[in-house]
Amino acid sequence: MNIVFLGPPGAGKGTQAKRITEKYGIPQISTGDMFREHLSKGTELGKKAKEYMEKGQLVPDEIVLGMVEERLKQPDCEKGFILDGFPRTVPQAEALDEMLAKWGKKIDYAIAIEVPDEELVKRLTGRRTCKNCGMMYHIIFKPPKEDNKCDACGGELYQRADDNEETVRNRLKVYHESTAPLIDYYEKKGVLHRIDGMGSIDEIFERIVKVLG
Ligand code: AP5
Ligand code: ZN
Repeated sequence: MNIVFLGPPGAGKGTQAKRITEKYGIPQISTGDMFREHLSKGTELGKKAKEYMEKGQLVPDEIVLGMVEERLKQPDCEKGFILDGFPRTVPQAEALDEMLAKWGKKIDYAIAIEVPDEELVKRLTGRRTCKNCGMMYHIIFKPPKEDNKCDACGGELYQRADDNEETVRNRLKVYHESTAPLIDYYEKKGVLHRIDGMGSIDEIFERIVKVLG
C-alpha cells in the first residue's frame, strides 16, 4: 500500500501517519523530519535546507528528490510506505511517479486532510515535539501529563523553529500556491480521498482507516 499524505502544514499529517504506521506496518517517510535530522547532525544537506525552512519556503526540488529516492530504495519500503510532506510541488509529484514506474510501482491512495487556515495557525503555534522520540503534543489540544515532558519517554519537549506565527503564515501561503495544485493532480489520477481534518485525532484516524480498509 503506497500512500501520499497531502494537506497544509498543521493538518495532522505527522500525527496520523504515525498511527497508520503502527496499524499497517509500513514506514512513514517525512521529508521535513529527514531535513530536521540532517540539520541536527550538521550535514551539508541540512545546512542547505536550513535557509529555506527558517523562512517557511520550500527546499529546491533537486535536493528533496535525491533524498527521497534513496529512502524509497530501502527494503522496508517494499511492502508500502506513507509519504508525509512529499510531494509538495507538481514537478515533485511527476518525478515521484517516474521513480515508482521504474520499479513497477504507483501511488494507491492520496489522502488530503482538510483544515481551515485559522485552525492551522492555532495548531502550529501550540505544537510541541519530544526531542527524544518525536511524539507530538499541543499545549491546549493534546497537553503532556507533566509540563514540558514526553508522556511516552520522559524526554524534553521543544518548539520547532518554523512554528512562530510569521513563518506559519508564510508556510500557509506557500502551501496554497505550490502544494494545493497537487489535489487536482491526484484527483485526475483517480486516487484522491478528501478527509475532513476537523475533530478529534481518533475521529480523523477512523475516517482514514475507512478509506484504506
Ligand atoms: P514539514 O515538516 O513537512 O512540515 P509541514 O508540512 O509544514 O507539516 P507539519 O509537520 O507542520 O504539520 P502536520 O500536518 O504534520 O501536523 P501535525 O501532525 O504535526 O516541513 C517543514 C519544512 O521543510 C517546509 O516548510 C519546507 O521548508 C521543508 N520541506 C519538507 N518537505 C519538503 C518538500 N517535499 N519539498 C520542499 N521542502 C520541503 O499536527 C500539528 C499540531 O496539531 C500538533 O501539535 C498536533 O498535536 C495538533 N493536532 C493534530 N491533529 C489535531 C486535531 N485533530 N485536533 C487538534 N489538534 C491536532
Ligand atoms: Zn518522547
